[in-house]
Amino acid sequence: MRRTAIFVAASAMTLSLAGCGMLNATSDGASARPTKGNDITVGLLLPENVNTRYEKFDLPIIKDKVRSLTGGKGKVQYANAEQKADKQSSQLQAMIDDKVDVILLDAVDSHAIAGDVKKAKDAGIPVIAYDRLAEGPIDGYVSFDNELVGEVQGRTLLEAMGDGDHTSDKIVMMNGSPTDPNAAQFKQGALAELNGKVNIAESYDTKDWDPDNAKANMAEAIQAIGVDKIAAVYSANDAMAGGIVKALKAAGRTDLPPITGQDAELSAVHRILAGDQYMSVYKSYPQEADAAAEMAVAKVQGHGIQFDALTSDKVDSPTKKGIPAQLVSVVALTKSNIMDTVVADGIYKVSEICTAKYAAACKENKVK
Ligand code: GAL
Repeated sequence: MRRTAIFVAASAMTLSLAGCGMLNATSDGASARPTKGNDITVGLLLPENVNTRYEKFDLPIIKDKVRSLTGGKGKVQYANAEQKADKQSSQLQAMIDDKVDVILLDAVDSHAIAGDVKKAKDAGIPVIAYDRLAEGPIDGYVSFDNELVGEVQGRTLLEAMGDGDHTSDKIVMMNGSPTDPNAAQFKQGALAELNGKVNIAESYDTKDWDPDNAKANMAEAIQAIGVDKIAAVYSANDAMAGGIVKALKAAGRTDLPPITGQDAELSAVHRILAGDQYMSVYKSYPQEADAAAEMAVAKVQGHGIQFDALTSDKVDSPTKKGIPAQLVSVVALTKSNIMDTVVADGIYKVSEICTAKYAAACKENKVK
């Protein structure tokens, strides 16, 4: 599912009607309903709250953006599934019952939720997949370029291992949840970089992205490989990297091998400064979340041209081809670019990063 960047060509008929503000333009010619004004409700379904990104960034950014796009009149109705697919299914059903105008869905289980997406669609509520590509008849998708995330992780890990031949160096691969389609893409991107260059001695898919599961899997890998023989660890995200670091330290390893991550969590920025984690992937949440709010509002207000302009990429899910999409780029976060990424974007203040414990590392890495 590599992006193809084809510009969406909506039919002239749909565009001209949408341009007059008369119809809710859908490129697939589905039900035409009267265009909504600013008094709209955007349903937002987020998957979990262990990773800080969801409630610290995604949620407030989407709320603010919906408010500002609707002159303060639009609302966000929010629910978090706490990593439970059945809970998310009921939350989506409740939003259908409440007749929200559009749903932004970040799926716990992209396959299991397909039936509920269909129910929303049948009730005339458009569903936009947020961050993870839900199956079923979704109207659009906004995410990061997830294969690129994996490539950036793989490439940076190799850089950290240094020049020379690493083909027999043993690394551990800790991938994300099998119910999250992003996890498969991260893995695919990382393997494209790592295959043939290192020895992937142990590889795990981590149930629920749970840091405790990652810690337990890591303890198993340490048993199998030997704690001092591990040359590097590919961790798909920061929360799991935290569990991996704990397992390595518990096994007595003091000089930690390079470890990857993703999400630029504050705890990961701290581990990077302390030398316990080599990198994270910085994904600009403002960019993704703003785009999601813009797409949702454009969709319900019938601004077809705007919606098409926001979704100039195309992706395929297992159940739908050519989904209009926006894929946002990402960058590696290492100790050398903390200022240019998370600080420049206002994600963290220097004062939050450079607490007493990290003052020396901040000075050394020019975080000020
Ligand atoms: C992914 C998401 C990551 C991270 C991870 C763990 O789908 O893209 O940013 O949050 O889930 O839940």
